[in-house]
Parts: sequence; structure tokens; C-alpha cells
Amino acid sequence: MKRQEIDREAARRVDAEARRVLATNRRKGVSDWDGMRYDFVCPSPTHYPFQWFWDSAFHAIALLQVDPKLAQQELRCLMQGAQPDGYIAHMLLWDTKSNPEWFTPEACIRLDQPHFTGTIQPPVAARSLERIYDATQDAAYVRELFPKILAFMKWLDRVRDVDRDALVTIIQPDESGLDASPKYDREMQVEAQPPERTLADWRRGMHRLFGVYANKTHEEQAKLDVFSFEDVMMNTIYADGWRALARLAKAVGLPDADEHERRYRRTLDALLAKCWDEKAGVFWDLSGAAERPARVLTFTSLFPLALPDLPEAVARRLVEDHLLNEKEFWLAYPIPSVAASEPSFDPGWHTKTTWRGPTWVNANWYLYWGLRHHGFADAAHELARRTIAMQAKGGIREFYDPRTAEGQGATSFGWSTLVLDLIAAEGALAG
Ligand code: GLC
Repeated sequence: MKRQEIDREAARRVDAEARRVLATNRRKGVSDWDGMRYDFVCPSPTHYPFQWFWDSAFHAIALLQVDPKLAQQELRCLMQGAQPDGYIAHMLLWDTKSNPEWFTPEACIRLDQPHFTGTIQPPVAARSLERIYDATQDAAYVRELFPKILAFMKWLDRVRDVDRDALVTIIQPDESGLDASPKYDREMQVEAQPPERTLADWRRGMHRLFGVYANKTHEEQAKLDVFSFEDVMMNTIYADGWRALARLAKAVGLPDADEHERRYRRTLDALLAKCWDEKAGVFWDLSGAAERPARVLTFTSLFPLALPDLPEAVARRLVEDHLLNEKEFWLAYPIPSVAASEPSFDPGWHTKTTWRGPTWVNANWYLYWGLRHHGFADAAHELARRTIAMQAKGGIREFYDPRTAEGQGATSFGWSTLVLDLIAAEGALAG
């Protein structure tokens, strides 16, 4: 791959804008329901005013480039949502009074308590704690937060691995964070055409699920099998979480590092044994108790690249056959959330629903580090270069048209500031 330098002026603009977003999205106060002090970065002032689980874990990583103390604060605030049984909700609704629109059916959220949801998101927090430790060497901080993250990982194992195969399930599409991804269309009874129909179908599907889950415990919900996906991205992040906990436990002298490592390897092995398709050269999610492979090509089919111990031959297939394939993922502004070869690919956001084609910076961030770990430094560099160019054109938005870099969705979007980590890793401002 021909190496092109990152445009330093573009990087400087993106860097400044990302820092501005992290500062202006900060929300501080005292909750009117439990008197807890909150202080975190919300995903978007106009669209997402609360604290979201995986968003905050990404914000913490981006904040390391601003001030490590703010990164620590972000994750600490999130962990205030940890429940005695280990559960952590995907949304902590710190300030409900100012945001009544979130309590209408259109918002499609399922509450457990008036102030947090009954939904999970991928456990990025472990990776985030690892990055905070790498930047600060603050062992006391690790010891403070580790038990809550570990308890959530154990909750996932206990409640969401019903068939005990080391792969956890999501029980509604937004638990992967990939809300309306077309890989869930069949189970959600969503029609991809005409595009105006998709959102209404998806909302109907969500409310159907909410009806079934109402008044049931988490344990009961997980056993219903009305929607259950062993999602490849979710399980990659889950495996990566055990890897990070094993490493942290060793580093700061906490017990059971070997046990965490064993869990990491088991989930990696299960992804390879059950989700890897040797013929296609990608991973597929498994749907339902029957574990039907959901053969819709999205970026999540490449996601195990994020695991450093993925066998090299598998990593090579993912990268050379798919990630760098111009008919699938290697578009002008990669990585699109859905491969361009899929009939449901909607790069121009005509469906007005999420994860159906546009490029997202958190996916690029994971894949960037995966490429680097697996020896594809040139591809990683090019991915960072195009991500920075995309944000220089499109702004710090929720997602982007992979053909034109046009910014779409929410403005001033929190995790798109992960670009700060890419800029730092590539030394794009140096010189
Ligand atoms: C959207 C995304 C989800 C994210 C949330 C807040 O719903 O699909 O992944 O956590 O917005 O940014």
C-alpha cells in the first residue's frame, strides 16, 4: 500500500474541534433521585443528553489526550451505576427532568428503574480501564474500579451465557449498540425497502420485544429466546474485556489473573469454533437457541481482528479478502458499518435509522488497533489518515457517508473524538 502522509493542517483542525466537543458535552450536577454527584461527557447535547455505557468508555479513552484525571472521572461516574448483583445499565438518566422526550414511545428505551435502563451495552469499560492504567500507572485507581467491572463481566457470564458456550447473548438489537443493523432485520421483521419503512418496522419490533420482557427478571428474559444473538462484536469486546482484566490483575497484584485469561481464551476459541466461516473468510453472528448464522456482511464480521491472539491466518483473510476489498469495506472513507455489496447498504442514510451503511469512528478505532497488532501498520495508517480526512470534511458527527465524508446524525458527537487517540498514535501533529 502506497503511504500517504496525514494532512497536518486537517489533523490540527480535527484535533481542536474534538477537544471543543469533549469540553462542551460535559454534564455536571447532583441527581434528584439518589443524590449522587455526576460529572461526565454526554454523547451529544442535541441528541443524547444522558450517560451511555459504551460511549462513556470511549470518551474516557479520548479524554486521556486531554487530561487523564478527566478520563478517570468519566469511568468513575459510569461505575456509580453498578448494581449490587453486578448489572450495569446502558443508560444512566442522571437528569430526567430536562429531557421529557426520552419518555415517549419513539425513544424506544426500556427502563428497569425510573433512572436507568434494563438494557446492556458492550463491556468496553475493561479496555478503557486498561488504557487509563497504561497512561497513568495508577494502581490505586485500578483497584478502585476493577471490582465493579469484574462484577459486570461475571453478570454477563452468569445471566447472558444461557447455553454455557462462552458466548454471551444480546436480547434486543440495541444491546450491541448497533440498533438497526440489517443483520437483525429478519428477527426484527424489518423491511429494508422502501427505506422510509425501516424505522417504523424497527420501532414496532422493539415494542414487541418490550412487551414480552415486561415484568420479567433479567434471568427470565435471557431464557425466552424471542430475540437472542450471539453477536460477534459484542463477544469480541467481551473476550477483550477478560484479556484486559487478566493483564490489569497481574499488573496491580489482584487475584485470579489466570482465571480471567482462561475466560478470554475460551471466548476467543468459541468465536473461532462457532462463528468463523472458513469458506467466506468472515465471522457470523449466531441467532437464536438454534444458532443460525446471520449471513449479512457488516463490519462486525471483521471485528475479532481487535483480539491480539486471533490466529494470523484468520487475521490475514479478514484484512486482505474483506477489509481492504473495495467492493465491500475499503471505500473512500472506510469502514462502512455495512459492506457495500449488501442490498441493505444505505450510505446516504435514507432509512434515517442507524448502522445501515455509514462509517462510525468507534469501529475504526477498534479496527485501527487490531490492524496494528496484527502487523498491518500501513493499512492502519491509511485508515487513520482517511478517518482524519473524513472528520476534517464532515465535522465531529455521529456517523459519515463512506463515499463523500458528509457528516450525518447527531452533531458534536462524543466518541467521534476517539480520533484524538488516532492522531496521537500516528504522531499526526508532530513536526
Ligand atoms: C445510538 C447508538 C448507540 C449509542 C447511542 C448514544 O443509539 O446506536 O450505540 O450508544 O446512540 O450515542
